[in-house]
Amino acid sequence: MKKLILDVDTGVDDAQAIMLALAAPDVEILGITCCHGNTPLENVLKNTLRVLKVCNRLDIPVYKGCSKPLLARKQHAGDYHGKDGLGDVPDPDAPGLELLQKRNAVKALIKMVKANPGEVTLVATAPLTNLAVAVQLEPSLPEKLKALYIMGGNMESRGNTTACGEFNFVADSEAAYIVLDRYTCPTYIATWEFTCRNSLPWSFCGPWLDMKTEKAAFMKKITHLSMTKARSAEYQKEITAGKGFNSCDTYALAAAIDDTLITESEKVAVTVELEGTYTQGMMVLDYMEQLKKKHKAVIMKKVDLEKFKKMLMNSLK
Ligand code: BDR
Repeated sequence: MKKLILDVDTGVDDAQAIMLALAAPDVEILGITCCHGNTPLENVLKNTLRVLKVCNRLDIPVYKGCSKPLLARKQHAGDYHGKDGLGDVPDPDAPGLELLQKRNAVKALIKMVKANPGEVTLVATAPLTNLAVAVQLEPSLPEKLKALYIMGGNMESRGNTTACGEFNFVADSEAAYIVLDRYTCPTYIATWEFTCRNSLPWSFCGPWLDMKTEKAAFMKKITHLSMTKARSAEYQKEITAGKGFNSCDTYALAAAIDDTLITESEKVAVTVELEGTYTQGMMVLDYMEQLKKKHKAVIMKKVDLEKFKKMLMNSLK
């Protein structure tokens, strides 16, 4: 069994990623740690529980993490994910926050990793605040991880939030800097451009969401807003997205589960710009090795789309 911890800011694509992980036969999710991001933390917590309820997996522990970035001003992505982070289609029977674990997410993350040294793959699909705080509290945390998978950053200075900045890295650039600097475990990054280039064709999305299951009906409801947005010509132009739906977070999760999913990648040292007028939050790829960093991250380039589609189909069965 692969042991996973998910650090999420449950919006629509986090929900897709969580469901994909839950459907994988050889995966044990030790816990889900929540962070501010797509929507305020309280919504993230509610959304995460809602997803687990649809999948009948409320037994998985959910932890409350950081509600704001280290230094930056708080920002969310309500335009795309909905004000509540999950498409603004509330469920009156959604589980309540009394189901949350009492332990704080950062402490829980440290405890779970220490209890399973060398075995845990951490998948981070939110701003990296929880991970940055965790490594400050426990500097040996990265060496106890098996691997870290991140959805965030960019590889060609294309942004989706600022001209050169991807949402998760802009929402807490200082945290992203700390994580790329201190997590020296094997690190795999699904950047914004990578996810755009490997987007899901619309011809796949229809049948995927039209499956006659409770999970598919839930997914169809919560993705309606973001899919409508993603289909709009204006969005395609603005974001230079691919010609389909971009389930950003799910790529990082799927790659963590199946190491044959990524068919092309490269290894390079990375960091984050913290001061640029136009480039604050941009991921920097040090091809010239100017930074003299020993640790190199694996930057994902291409995905086996057919395999990815199969995993997504299974996640809604
Ligand atoms: C990232 O930002 C969020 O809106 C998505 O959930 C994803 O994690 C894409 O830039």
